[in-house]
Amino acid sequence: MNKIKPPHAFTWLTMPDLPPIPEHFIERGLRIIDDNIKDFARNDKLGRDIYGIYSKRTRKLVKKQEEVDPVFQVSYDLGEDWDQWVKDNITPKYYDTSVRTVASYADNATDQGPHTDGAKLKLYYLIDPGSADALTSFYVQPGHSMVRVFDNEYDIIYADNMDDLVLLDQAHFPARTWILLNSYVIHGVEQAIVGRRTHISITFPADIISHSIKFK
Ligand SMILES: [Fe+2]
Repeated sequence: MNKIKPPHAFTWLTMPDLPPIPEHFIERGLRIIDDNIKDFARNDKLGRDIYGIYSKRTRKLVKKQEEVDPVFQVSYDLGEDWDQWVKDNITPKYYDTSVRTVASYADNATDQGPHTDGAKLKLYYLIDPGSADALTSFYVQPGHSMVRVFDNEYDIIYADNMDDLVLLDQAHFPARTWILLNSYVIHGVEQAIVGRRTHISITFPADIISHSIKFK
C-alpha cells in the first residue's frame, strides 16, 4: 500500500498573509450554530457513522487515571458564496470547509480528546475560543513519529489514553487569525466547552504545500 507523503514537521503556524474572513460570513456562521446547536444532543440519534464520527462521539478518555467523557465537534456548511470566497482568496484546491463548534453528551465534558484528522492539513480560524482557558495541545505517542503517516485521507488516530502521550506543544490559539494546523500530529483541545468554541475550517491535501508555505 502506498503511503501518503506527510508534510514537514511543525505543530501550528499563524498565516498573517491570508485575508481575514469578511464579517458577514462570521455572522452567518454564528447564526447557523445558534440555529442548530441548542437541541443537538437531544436530537442526535448517534446513528450516523461517517468516517468514525460515532466512535469519536462515544469514546472514553483517560486523563490522570480517570475515565472522562469527550466533547466533539459538529460542523455545518456555510453556503456556496463562502465556498467561492475560499477558492478566490485562500486555495482553489481543498477537501471541505465548514463552521464548527463543540458539543457533548455529558454535562461535565471539557476535553476533545487527542486525535489526528487523517491525511489532510487544516486551516483554522477561531471565532470564539469558548473559554479563555481553552488550550490546543499537540502530542507524541511514544514509539511513533511526531508527524504520522497515513494510507488514505480518512485514516484517523484516536489516542484515548492521554496519560500515555508526551506533550509536545500547547497554545491558546489567537482568535480571528488564520492558523495552519498540522493535523498529522496528534492534537486535541482541552477545557473547550466551558463556553461555545466556534471556528471555521478548511481542510486540504498536504501536497499543495511544498518547500515554502503559500497559497494561491
Ligand atoms: Fe483535529
